[in-house]
Amino acid sequence: MSDKKASNQMWGGRFASGPAAIMEAINASISFDKKLYAQDIRGSVAHSEMLAETGIISTDDQRKIAHGLNTILREIEDGKFEFSTRLEDIHMNVEARLAELIGPAAGRLHTARSRNDQVAVDFRLWVKDEFHRVAEALKGLIAAFLERAEQHASTVMPGFTHLQTAQPVTFGHHCMAYVEMFSRDLGRVRDAIERMDESPLGAAALAGTGFPIDRFRTARALGFREPTRNSLDSVSDRDYALEFLSIAAICATHLSRLAEEIVIWSTPQFGFVRLSDSYSTGSSIMPQKKNPDAAELVRAKTGRVNGHLIGLLTVMKGLPLTYSKDMQEDKEAVFDAAETLDLMVAAMTGMVGDMTINDQAMKRAAGSGYSTATDLADWLVRTLGMPFREAHHVTGRAVALAESKKVGLEKLSLDDLKSIHVGITDDIFSVLSVQNSVKSRTSFGGTAPAEVKKQIRYWKKRLTKA
Ligand code: ARG
Repeated sequence: MSDKKASNQMWGGRFASGPAAIMEAINASISFDKKLYAQDIRGSVAHSEMLAETGIISTDDQRKIAHGLNTILREIEDGKFEFSTRLEDIHMNVEARLAELIGPAAGRLHTARSRNDQVAVDFRLWVKDEFHRVAEALKGLIAAFLERAEQHASTVMPGFTHLQTAQPVTFGHHCMAYVEMFSRDLGRVRDAIERMDESPLGAAALAGTGFPIDRFRTARALGFREPTRNSLDSVSDRDYALEFLSIAAICATHLSRLAEEIVIWSTPQFGFVRLSDSYSTGSSIMPQKKNPDAAELVRAKTGRVNGHLIGLLTVMKGLPLTYSKDMQEDKEAVFDAAETLDLMVAAMTGMVGDMTINDQAMKRAAGSGYSTATDLADWLVRTLGMPFREAHHVTGRAVALAESKKVGLEKLSLDDLKSIHVGITDDIFSVLSVQNSVKSRTSFGGTAPAEVKKQIRYWKKRLTKA
């Protein structure tokens, strides 16, 4: 079923009739790529200025073009612009309106350019801005963790492996683990910006152009370090989008692990933290409940972000060089991942800053589960010169004895301990408390409060420098 509309005014020269309605629906991207309007107009202004400067178009035409583009920018920002699906995408919507506003001069804007390099430059500009937004948001999240770490450098909690009580650690140390994780995300964002900071504008359709354009000038005008070096790659590369998605996916995965911890910590069984009313909800039938919905949603939205990464990798993996229309599918993935990630980071920053830490519950739990068993074994090694493997064995017997007596290790009597190994003296009790356990772990990067404070100082300095 073909509807006999007029052929497309931009590329319809050799077409007798317009597209079928279904073709228009599958082909159009304006519903989502209108988000690129500011970048598209910025790119066009820079391109027109360069065209005039190199004598490819007249200064008079350039002035008309720039004036028209600014009018369009205002129309869009004031909600007065009428986007048309028939005009496919943001590039042709803007150009068609430009023709309405300034007449034939509008037709000169697309000299020495193609939508292939146009969309590549628009999208790069957008992704670069978003990278900067993510970097700022991450800095806020890291600052929230640093503050928490400072408050709780000495607050003891159980450290887990396999979610089983392993050894006592401090909550400050745990917070600093997240500082490390989100700082790596921040580092990845910065690396990616560095790599993608090149302008593809002027690659034209794929092969470059015979017009005497100045790609260095447009690159500079648009805030890129330099122009890209291969016209084929310029229009077929979407690595910056893939890198954005993979960084977003890793960061979302970090946020999801944190969300999972918050869900666990806020259960009545753990009771390590209490979420503020701003980040939890009640149950409609169980009045006692306070649900960690925001944390759960952060955990769930990670699925969306990770999905977008796989989605775009799959779009790209079969494409021969250079541009294929498949690549139009890059935008929704990135836009949605960006919006989702922004929300996730903001929600987590709020939650981390707002939640109440229950020091007592953490301390109680830190002492349970024979968490100082390793300290006992280390004492045997240090004081009695016992090989660690044997000390591990002796400690295992002490744990079994404590278990049978239903007490903690520190509650065994000296006689009990001597029955396990005659060499044990009451000096051993000094290592069985959780406070002494954490205090003793002074190795670089260890959980001792003094070491945690050192790492806080390091990160504060490093982040103010960046
Ligand atoms: N809307 C297109 C996209 O997002 C713009 C590029 C179109 N290029 C083309 N040769 N049809 O990819």
